[in-house]
Amino acid sequence: MLGRHVADWVLQQVLGTPAPVAIALSGGSTPTVTYRRFAETDFASRFPWPRVHWFWGDERFVPHDHPRSNFRLAWDSFLSRLPVARENIHAVPTERTTPEAGAAAYEDELRRFYGANALSPDRPLLHINLLGLGPDGHFASLFPGSPALEERTRWTAVTMDQSEPRITLTYPALESARHAVFIVSGSEKAAILPKLLARDSALPAGRFRPHGDYCIFADGAAAANVAKTSARSGGTIA
Ligand code: 6PG
Repeated sequence: MLGRHVADWVLQQVLGTPAPVAIALSGGSTPTVTYRRFAETDFASRFPWPRVHWFWGDERFVPHDHPRSNFRLAWDSFLSRLPVARENIHAVPTERTTPEAGAAAYEDELRRFYGANALSPDRPLLHINLLGLGPDGHFASLFPGSPALEERTRWTAVTMDQSEPRITLTYPALESARHAVFIVSGSEKAAILPKLLARDSALPAGRFRPHGDYCIFADGAAAANVAKTSARSGGTIA
């Protein structure tokens, strides 16, 4: 239910915007239902595929066909099943490169798409930024204690998740979004979600200040410790 609700909300936002738009996809397991909804006929037949460009908020530094690849998650769930032009798919470079070179190449692609080297608060890079929330308060691949949390110039960074290199958007790029959307599901997120809503600055996600609007789609299990009225502090529980 949650995933379908998010997908249908995305459709309404995109239909309401005539211009070409960029959507940043999240990794992890939560968005799978949303991505599968994108591929369902009654959704796909209404979605304006030619004017939507697909990016990733972060990527594990593994080949694109690796089971842990965020690209593969989206490719298998919907991108491979729909009329999406290859030039509209902006995968994070993780093959035949290094994490640092891949991050730099991804940043170059983002700048080419944006058409400028500096982000303007009144012209967001992303129309929709789909995000997950880790139990430790990470989002994208901005983990607690990471030096990348202090990066306010570069649009991408290399971080480590235990022993796995990640390429992630940094706060400047993540915050350059018309709609920032957290999708939070499951009882294992019930402890962290109230801290996100309280914008707890000890958490990477708590420090996130998107230029546009900010909403949180959460299921009952994740929102078990959240009274509906508390949504006003940081976002709306939909
Ligand atoms: C990733 C994600 C990461 C994810 C959270 C939540 O590459 O893993 O971008 O930020 O969204 O860790 O993951 P789950 O959806 O699996 O709980």
